Amino acid sequence: MSHDTPESSVLEQPRLSRRRALLGAAALFASVPFAGAEAQKRGHVANPNPSPAASGLIRIDGNENPYGPSPKAREAILASVARAPRYADSEVDALGGQLAASHGLPANQVIIGTGSGELLKIAAHMAANPGPGGELIAAVPTYEELPAFGARLGLTVKGIAVDAHHRHDLARMHAAIGPQTRLVYICNPNNPTGTVVGRTELEDFVKAVPAQTLVVVDEAYIHLVDDAQAGSVDHLVKDVPNLLVMRTFSKIHGLAGLRVGYALAHDKTAATVAAWGLTYPNSTGIAAATASFNDHDFLAKTRVALINDRNRIHAAIDARGLPRADSQGNFVFFDTGGPLKRFQDRMLAKNIKVGRHFDGYDTWARVSIGLKRETDAFLAALPGALGA
Ligand SMILES: Cc1ncc(COP(=O)(O)O)c(C=O)c1O
Repeated sequence: MSHDTPESSVLEQPRLSRRRALLGAAALFASVPFAGAEAQKRGHVANPNPSPAASGLIRIDGNENPYGPSPKAREAILASVARAPRYADSEVDALGGQLAASHGLPANQVIIGTGSGELLKIAAHMAANPGPGGELIAAVPTYEELPAFGARLGLTVKGIAVDAHHRHDLARMHAAIGPQTRLVYICNPNNPTGTVVGRTELEDFVKAVPAQTLVVVDEAYIHLVDDAQAGSVDHLVKDVPNLLVMRTFSKIHGLAGLRVGYALAHDKTAATVAAWGLTYPNSTGIAAATASFNDHDFLAKTRVALINDRNRIHAAIDARGLPRADSQGNFVFFDTGGPLKRFQDRMLAKNIKVGRHFDGYDTWARVSIGLKRETDAFLAALPGALGA
């Protein structure tokens, strides 16, 4: 199916001609059809209208986990200060070894990045590297960091609308794969809908993606899944060289600010991902991630708290008969019944910041699960924010 020579495969290590570097630079300044505000927000350009940080604002807009860091991670963060003069080589290796063992993989198949965002962008680089003409397939709506960056690198993004249940439409995504498709992005659970696709269905899909097309399964929210039909595809990494599974310490671990994520991949693919790395993890992030990874009590309690409050929000929305997606993440996506801006403004009047707009969902809001008292405040404000 591929017209690429083996040398230009998406699984190969970086080759950047001067011409491609220039084209890439031009693309950076061109308009980006698939660049979401969320991805841009995480760029390095200062926001001229920063959100007030210390005003008591309840921030349930960013899918963070305010229960973190875990008690053990907090201790590790403080202790890490003494390590700051040193590069974190041995700590990165030690965490990589623990992560690999937990997934039943050798250590060289885990690549730790500066957040999974870095690794998602590396995947886009791998897809763009063979040269012009490549395509990338992603759901609409989905988490835009990888597709938006792929668009900047010159890939054509084919967006495939989610199905009537706001889930990835895997049949249509598979049908959209053609000879130019370099990468398919599956976010499971999906952000912003929170929906999952069934484990078997996803396994079959991954195995059916042609060998020259990367398939990236982003499992940022996998720890929040309580649907027995859904689950990780990490075990496929052993046998599927074109699969990348992404994980992050930003969600269940509550360490978004410390920027630690990792990718799982077949050994040669893992070496390619590592070769594309632009940054090196910081010692405080690695110390916190290692401690949190081993703080099973914190992880179990946080999961219960977040799922309970997800159920409470689902129930409140259902009681009002409003359409919603079936979320398996630490956020809920629902139809407010009126313009999103009106709902956002009314919530802001109660000092609550809810999530942003998503194309095609003009009346829908994404609300992240905060602390229990923050969910209480949101639920108390909900009836007034919904009214006409
Ligand atoms: C689906 C998904 N993947 C990845 C990320 C980025 O995570 P990180 O903080 O590890 O870069 C997010 C953040 O919101 C996300 O929603």
